[in-house]
Amino acid sequence: VSVWAIVVAAGSGSRFGGPKQYEALGTHRVLDYALADARAHADGLVLVVAPERAADAEPAADAVVAGGATRSASVRAGLAAVPADAEVVLVHDAARPLAGAELFGVVLAAVREGADAAVPVVPVTDTIRTRPGGGDPGRTLDRATLVAVQTPQGFRAEVLRAVHAGDPEGTDDASLVDDAGGRVVLVDGHAANRKITEALDLEIAAALLVAHGDPR
Ligand code: CTP
Ligand code: MG
Repeated sequence: VSVWAIVVAAGSGSRFGGPKQYEALGTHRVLDYALADARAHADGLVLVVAPERAADAEPAADAVVAGGATRSASVRAGLAAVPADAEVVLVHDAARPLAGAELFGVVLAAVREGADAAVPVVPVTDTIRTRPGGGDPGRTLDRATLVAVQTPQGFRAEVLRAVHAGDPEGTDDASLVDDAGGRVVLVDGHAANRKITEALDLEIAAALLVAHGDPR
């Protein structure tokens, strides 16, 4: 089975205050961790970057392509560079440096066992409310029914291509498979696999690296 990975790194990091995937973490850039984890289970690797970085050398990737204005558009740009004969595609956020190669293996196994999409999730630890608005006072959701979604997410390649036809928008790719009625299988994510979104997240990742040792 030919497996390709797409690492999306074309975001501007507006909440962080800059493209966090290029920040230093230990001795590497944040995105280098994502690339190394993805490489462990992929035959080929596409890195999606901002257009102004598309000519930069990225030796860890087999192809570097320019991303789009949204995450979904960036995934599509990456997918266009995945060979037609790829059977499984793994999609990963460059901003998740601590996923670990093993999680890619778990996700890949779930797709090999028949999932259209495999998604790592972790329990939600905060109680989650909806915002008040439009006359709705808001309400508290039942936490036991909720999970937080991570990447890497794995897909049968034909499914991922099909759900991206028509240029849909989603904050991840598994939600597009849900919308299309595909079979989404959940696997256990890792608490340490946090997305670097705000400055505090990078500080936490750095502390985790010190505490657990740099896997690179
Ligand atoms: N991403 C991308 N192309 C975009 C937007 C996001 O490749 N147009 C990537 C980011 O680089 C990141 C991942 O998608 O690796 C998750 O997105 P997010 O954490 O939202 O990053 P940003 O969009 O860069 O941050 P923000 O939403 O705060 O602007
Ligand atoms: Mg974003």
